[in-house]
Order: sequence, then C-alpha cells, then structure tokens
Amino acid sequence: MLPMSNITQEFNPLATNPVSTPRCVRVCQNRTCKKQGAKEVLAAFVALPVPDVAVIASSCLGQCGNGPMVLIVPEMVWYNRVQPHEVPTLVEKHLIGGQRVQQMLYYRFHPQG
Ligand code: FES
Repeated sequence: MLPMSNITQEFNPLATNPVSTPRCVRVCQNRTCKKQGAKEVLAAFVALPVPDVAVIASSCLGQCGNGPMVLIVPEMVWYNRVQPHEVPTLVEKHLIGGQRVQQMLYYRFHPQG
C-alpha cells in the first residue's frame, strides 16, 4: 500500500508555469496507464524520495496506450512505458543527476532523444 501522505493529487496535469511550478514527477494513474502497471511505477517513485521533488498521482496525461506515462516538470520531459524496475535509473540519472535517460524518452515528444 502506498504511503498516501507522499502523493499529491491534482486536477490539471498539463497546467504548468516553468517559473512558479515546483519540480515534480507526474505519474499517470488513469485507467489505461493503471492497466499497464502505473500504480507500481508510482509506488517505486514514492519509495525513492528526492528532496524538493514532489511525486504526483496524475490524472490522464493524454497519451493513453503508451504508458505507464511519466512527465517530469518543469522541464517537461516525458518517459513512457516506464516499468517499476526502471524508476531507480530515472531517479538517479534524471532527478538527481540532471540528465535525460535517452533510451526511455517518449519518442512522440522527444523524437531526437
Ligand atoms: S491513461 Fe495514462 S495517459 Fe491517459
């Protein structure tokens, strides 16, 4: 069971303002992504907390069928088909190291990687 106190809910997952938006990881928890394992992906992020980075159980990110979908804000970097065992790599390389994980990027929004 997820420690719900570590998860933030939101209503508009794509509303961002790069200046005022705190850094966060949005993990889609809508139907299609959930069927693809998004609940476990969310749990994996919650289990690896990063200071000043919120983990958000997001509503649909509009990319159904390509999930589990993860969006990192405010840099607007998308990862798709994320599996729980890949979350430590995203945390270490992207959230802590500040580098995109090229092989996991969502091709639709990052066609050049
Ligand atoms: S259900 Fe996850 S993007 Fe729509």
